[in-house]
Amino acid sequence: METKLLDVTDENIDLAAEIIAQGGLVAFPTETVYGLGADALNSQAVGKVYAAKGRPSDNPMIVHIAETEELKRLTPEITPLMEALIREFWPGPLTMVVDKLPGIPDVTTGGLDTVAVRMPSDDIARKIIRRSGCPIAAPSANISGRPSPTKAQHVVEDLQGRIDAILMGQDCQVGIESTVVDVTGDFPVVLRPGIITPKDLEKAVDKLGKKVELDPALFVNRPRDVSDKDFKPKAPGMKYKHYAPKAEMIIISGEMDRVKEEIDRLKAESEAIGRKVGIILFEDNQFREAAHDFFAELRDFDERAVDLILAGALDTNDGVGFAVMNRMLKSAGYSVINI
Ligand code: TXA
Ligand code: MG
Repeated sequence: METKLLDVTDENIDLAAEIIAQGGLVAFPTETVYGLGADALNSQAVGKVYAAKGRPSDNPMIVHIAETEELKRLTPEITPLMEALIREFWPGPLTMVVDKLPGIPDVTTGGLDTVAVRMPSDDIARKIIRRSGCPIAAPSANISGRPSPTKAQHVVEDLQGRIDAILMGQDCQVGIESTVVDVTGDFPVVLRPGIITPKDLEKAVDKLGKKVELDPALFVNRPRDVSDKDFKPKAPGMKYKHYAPKAEMIIISGEMDRVKEEIDRLKAESEAIGRKVGIILFEDNQFREAAHDFFAELRDFDERAVDLILAGALDTNDGVGFAVMNRMLKSAGYSVINI
């Protein structure tokens, strides 16, 4: 299949919306990462997304909408908890898992009786959703298991020839995927951490007398030998091998000066035996920069055929640091040296 690479013009946004409305697949930028969009209510179109990404079919999609009104087509009731989160965080990088209405195809939700919904803030994304006239199912626009795409070129690398078109927009501002929160119970539960942190959520729901919980699966440093079927986080996507660079990756955790020393030492040791080494190290408290750059750096190292990536751990007491570390640990297959 020939993939159209579309500049961002008003006509091309129309064209992208038209392709999606007719059951095709288009990748487009959002504020978090690039998404691969299909009509969420068209099971054939959504089926093509799984095929293009090589994605396991039990891993449900996030459905993207442009107006709060559209939520009524997807879920039976907008609860006070949902209202509070919508008021504070939409449009933006927050996904809510809500009860689903029967009209949503099973293939979109991986057979679950809930649906994940997000209203992106990115202008292009919102225009495409509006003009297509349908809610858009959009997972990250990468081959399953690869780092999420934060630049149009990343999408071209992974999906050229497999989808109808790519809208070639700017680099994504946030750089990691949205925070996913289950709001089907009494308390909001974070299933995937993101730039909207548990503290941010807590502030928004405090007036309702609610606390924020974290899915215990977020704290399981899953060793390589635990199989997918024995690991059951509530967001099915959190269990798969993810964000894997081609290189071996090791995280070094500890006090910053010592981490730097250890990275230098390991680098010299590896280079002495002819290995090409890449380093990912963010200065203290540069959490947003880390989120913005992390996936792009992984892809950069792949491009340069690096053999070993040495990464400095981030402080997980910070909510954004915690979110980036969640990705970093998966990329490294939980390989950590504590010093
Ligand atoms: O920022 C984002 O969320 C990006 C952009 C494109 O919007 N999208 C994205 O989609 O990251 P994806 O498919 O790569 O990740 C969706 C995550 C997966 O971990 C999936 O298992 C989880 O959301 N999820 C989707 N529906 C769910 C549901 N009903 N219950 C629990 N988890 C769900
Ligand atoms: Mg993804």
